Amino acid sequence: MTGRAHTLLLFGATGDLSRRMLLPSLCALHAEKLVPEDLRIVGTARSEMNDAQFRNFARDALEKFLPAERRGGMADFLNRLSYQQLDVTAPEGYAELAKKAGPGEDLAIFLSTAPSLFKPTIEGLASAGLAGAKDGKGARISLEKPLGSDLASSAAINDAVATAFPENRIFRIDHYLGKETVQNLLALRFANLFFEPLWRSQYIDHVQITVAETVGLESRVDFYDDAGALRDMVQNHMLQLLALVAMEPPGSFDANAVRDEKVKVLRALRPVSADEIVTGQYRGGASAGQIVPGYDEELGRDSDTETFVALKAHVDNWRWRGVPFYLRTGKRLARRVTEIIVQFRQVPHSIFPGAKMKPNRLVIGIQPEENISLTLMAKVPGIDQQGMVLRSVPLDIAMPDAFSGKFKRIAYERLLLDLIEGDQTLFVRRDEVEAQWQWIDAIRETWAREGITPKPYAAGSWGPSAAIALAERDGVSWHE
Ligand code: BG6
Repeated sequence: MTGRAHTLLLFGATGDLSRRMLLPSLCALHAEKLVPEDLRIVGTARSEMNDAQFRNFARDALEKFLPAERRGGMADFLNRLSYQQLDVTAPEGYAELAKKAGPGEDLAIFLSTAPSLFKPTIEGLASAGLAGAKDGKGARISLEKPLGSDLASSAAINDAVATAFPENRIFRIDHYLGKETVQNLLALRFANLFFEPLWRSQYIDHVQITVAETVGLESRVDFYDDAGALRDMVQNHMLQLLALVAMEPPGSFDANAVRDEKVKVLRALRPVSADEIVTGQYRGGASAGQIVPGYDEELGRDSDTETFVALKAHVDNWRWRGVPFYLRTGKRLARRVTEIIVQFRQVPHSIFPGAKMKPNRLVIGIQPEENISLTLMAKVPGIDQQGMVLRSVPLDIAMPDAFSGKFKRIAYERLLLDLIEGDQTLFVRRDEVEAQWQWIDAIRETWAREGITPKPYAAGSWGPSAAIALAERDGVSWHE
């Protein structure tokens, strides 16, 4: 398929992601008239339901998860929906689905199901003619994480999908790429002249990327305990952020040009040594104003799964030689915040004797607040006999103020629209996801070899003290 899709086929339509994110995103796109007028949405899942029941299910989801002011034309949106019950492992059901979905060329498919179901689903789609010709026109397909739990299982998923869909029709989701502020990182770097000459080891001391959450296990007990923070957050979201910060300027804002540059960064990542990584697991404590239990208690058993990771990464290329990238992520931390800190170097020589010089720092706030702040040294007004008094002051841009009237979007709005339109720029290519796994697998091998297990930290803290020490021994403090 090269044009816009006219049917969206949603697997896992009654699941949590569909309720919280996908249906609300689609309704919001509908309200803004961004989707094709004739777009039909066919939901499918195991539950027995008719169209009317699915529409009721969707209405409840929209009323719960989409603000009222974004629900314009909800009745018309609900009319776009229909439903087909399907057990994806039973090949005989796909013929009925094909009748409902229409021709493969018109189709965008979204798999929001467990990865163990990807293979039978792909086979079923192909046998019912819903995938289209392998090398020619046909449906595009979007896959939700987890795309494997290591390189081998990720490659197996990729191989299974590739039996029916060519790479230019596969849309692998990393929902961080749908966030406005993450896309803004590209605008900041490549639509402004003055960052680029400084964006290298000569001028940058280090980079920090923090993705801190206050939530705990939530309802995903088994999934999370199998995955842990390294595979749940670092392999995908954090490495995407790192790649966007570190990539060379692409020749154009084209899907392959952008992804070519990201994959080069991922391949240049140096294997992490055991003393450059700290893992943790939360214990009971106070988080976001509430007393919360420890991970083991929430889980109901002992576990060695890490809920926190801090590590020091290196991108071994000319631009980043000697610049550490400190990454940390965890659950039940002190505050929910995702941010990137670019710490510049000190000026080579100070002409202000006695002044306390602070190197410039660029803070890119991704969530919950979307803001960009650059600290600059400035003269404190007044006359001081001892010489000029300087202080570091922030140059702040709060994105909601700069673009008043623009509301926060759900990341999936952008991604679903791009899937419908057929633009792969914000989706992860096979070589990217496999380069990410390769690096992650090596870390896990190190853990296994060295017998590394997570250190306890109190819920509501910033993780184990060893994570602070990891940065401090380089003279760096985490931004808080
Ligand atoms: C998901 C992880 O991919 O991202 C979750 O599986 C995590 O564990 C979530 O909570 C965080 O997403 P966001 O958009 O809230 O930062």
